[in-house]
Amino acid sequence: MKPIRKAVIPAAGFGTRLLPATKTVPKEMLPIIDTPVIQLVVEEAVEAGCEEILIIVSRGKSALEDYFDRAFELEAVLQNKGKTDFLEAIRRPAQLAKITFIRQQEMRGLGDAVLLAREFVGDEPFLLLLGDTIVRSDDGQSVARLLVDTYAANQGAVIAVEPVAREFISRYGIVDGAPVPGQTDVFRLNTLIEKPEPEEAPSNLAVCSRYLLTPDVFDYLAETKPGKNGEIQITDALRQSALARPMFARQIHGHRYDAGSKLGYVKANVLLGLQRPDMREQLASFIKELAQTL
Ligand code: G1P
Repeated sequence: MKPIRKAVIPAAGFGTRLLPATKTVPKEMLPIIDTPVIQLVVEEAVEAGCEEILIIVSRGKSALEDYFDRAFELEAVLQNKGKTDFLEAIRRPAQLAKITFIRQQEMRGLGDAVLLAREFVGDEPFLLLLGDTIVRSDDGQSVARLLVDTYAANQGAVIAVEPVAREFISRYGIVDGAPVPGQTDVFRLNTLIEKPEPEEAPSNLAVCSRYLLTPDVFDYLAETKPGKNGEIQITDALRQSALARPMFARQIHGHRYDAGSKLGYVKANVLLGLQRPDMREQLASFIKELAQTL
């Protein structure tokens, strides 16, 4: 089996839901406490074994490229002042992996953005992680790692899914699958539908921003016509691929924070703040105090 060495992170969307902040700051650069969302996503890929990462950006997103570069002037200032913690922190992004960028010139959908990764990926399975979403499974395992394990057991593409309430079904790709005997939370997929109305949805299991894909997806993407909302949808390409070869879903038990949405962004800050030793206690007592007044 080929190891998973490469990850693709689309980060080209406008971030409309967080305007006006995203007028000049890409949504992926907004900090969760002190770390940009995109760094947390890159760290998840690295932790799952990836050494090469392609981030797909668009106009107005050069802050991401600067962030994963060195900053010699700032490094020199921090060095002179003996601020070694900060020095390490600003060097870290450039040291995480071999990170490259490509630009999507027109907003033609997630599928179109992913197709730009074809040459980078070549003939290997790869992780696809949406750059504005943080996922955490309850048992502390990284979701990307769960997908790698599921791929190793089944030798087919794997998509992370989680159940969603009926009223949210039309916001997601929804899958239909059958449980794989002997494997908890793993389904063999029959089909996937992008943002169906609840009455057309085959289940309530929603695609949740992490995928482990095989390179054949690019052949299907190249043939995919604009679908839902006039965009080229990766879900449509994956449905075609699932007809030709086994594809799987792995159900996640945890939390998904769409940091591109206002509420998701606030929740991600609170949750990750509670996990940080440097603020856990104070933040928890603040939340308890606050809860009594609500
Ligand atoms: C994309 C995918 C969708 C998926 C969602 C969350 O939609 O097209 O299938 O469920 O991400 O991972 P978007 O949120 O970009 O509209």
